[in-house]
Amino acid sequence: MISIAHPLIGSEEQEAVLRVLASGQLAQGEQVAIFEQRFAEMCGTREAVAISTGTAALYLALLAHNIGPGDEVITTAFSFIATANVILHVGATPVFVDIEADTYNIDPALVEAAITPRTKAILPVHLYGNPCDMQRLEQLAKIHNLALIEDACQAHAAKIDDRVVGSFGTGCFSFYPTKNMTTGEGGMITTNEPDVAAKLRLLRNHGQHTRYYHTEPGYNMRMTEIQAAIGIVQLNKLEQFNEQRISNARFLTTHLRGSIPTPIARPGYRHVYHQYTIRVPHNRDQWATMLHERGVSTGVHYPLPIYQQPFYRESLSRFRISPPVSTVNTVCDPSDFCLPETELAAQQVLSLPVHPALSEDNLFTIIQEVGTLCN
Ligand SMILES: Cc1ncc(COP(=O)(O)O)c(C=O)c1O
Repeated sequence: MISIAHPLIGSEEQEAVLRVLASGQLAQGEQVAIFEQRFAEMCGTREAVAISTGTAALYLALLAHNIGPGDEVITTAFSFIATANVILHVGATPVFVDIEADTYNIDPALVEAAITPRTKAILPVHLYGNPCDMQRLEQLAKIHNLALIEDACQAHAAKIDDRVVGSFGTGCFSFYPTKNMTTGEGGMITTNEPDVAAKLRLLRNHGQHTRYYHTEPGYNMRMTEIQAAIGIVQLNKLEQFNEQRISNARFLTTHLRGSIPTPIARPGYRHVYHQYTIRVPHNRDQWATMLHERGVSTGVHYPLPIYQQPFYRESLSRFRISPPVSTVNTVCDPSDFCLPETELAAQQVLSLPVHPALSEDNLFTIIQEVGTLCN
């Protein structure tokens, strides 16, 4: 079976972990500081703050920008659930706008209409490793004085021209095992704002200013030395991993283009292919089953728009959709909450294996089996 994800951990990571275990310093220490510095260098930001998970990174980023009850955060409903849940966790309201049909990323043309006096932030997601249109989102954030918090959990070292994602606003990254680089579990926040970084450092460590003196009711969301030691090695390999993903994606697109809609990367955009996602216009789930039977595992990222998840449907006051009622289209029941492109994507997307551990044979099998279904 060709797996949809395959973390690549080698002897360097194992040796780095053993060195940490032998050192006796297991929690946040020198390895974390080195990892932070190197990650900030990679992103071109002044600061990077290591955190326990990507979800915790998003949550603390919202808190560090003073977002809380009564505030609204504009985001996408076509993402992993954590993107929206953290907005609820700080007591604010997620406002979902639709996505672009070709990139699956938040549509900047729809963001401005969603802004109200309560809006405090825009939270775009660089979905599948493909950067959002950050020039336009950056401009909107500036004009309306909003925080820009990037969910870059799937987009390590993705770029627009020379700018790395996570450097346009406050960037949040995940190092979950399936990601382009991993620390087992882990997260990072990048920022150019020293006061935001200082608040994050307090919040992740119980609000501790000096030993046993606490200026904030913070949390324990620290990274361990073991995670950071793995992260340093993985960061050294990130370019190689990403280049292999890009090369695998190029191979798949060369052979599948014309038979099925394949991923797009705009000129000047570096898509790092956390996922390689095609659009299957009909019977997507049947395709997934048939590919599985033929030895190719696939993923559906994501089968339900976040506002359709049971917890969100339970209480419609938890979120807002912009525009509020669906316009005439073929996808939605006009009486229902609906973002047409989001709904359509949730029905049609299918991710194929693209990870750097794929062999040439694996790639040929994928195009052969997908090609058979296309005919
Ligand atoms: C888009 C997105 N946001 C947030 C997260 C949460 O990251 P983590 O699993 O590290 O908490 C993930 C990862 O799963 C993700 O893909």
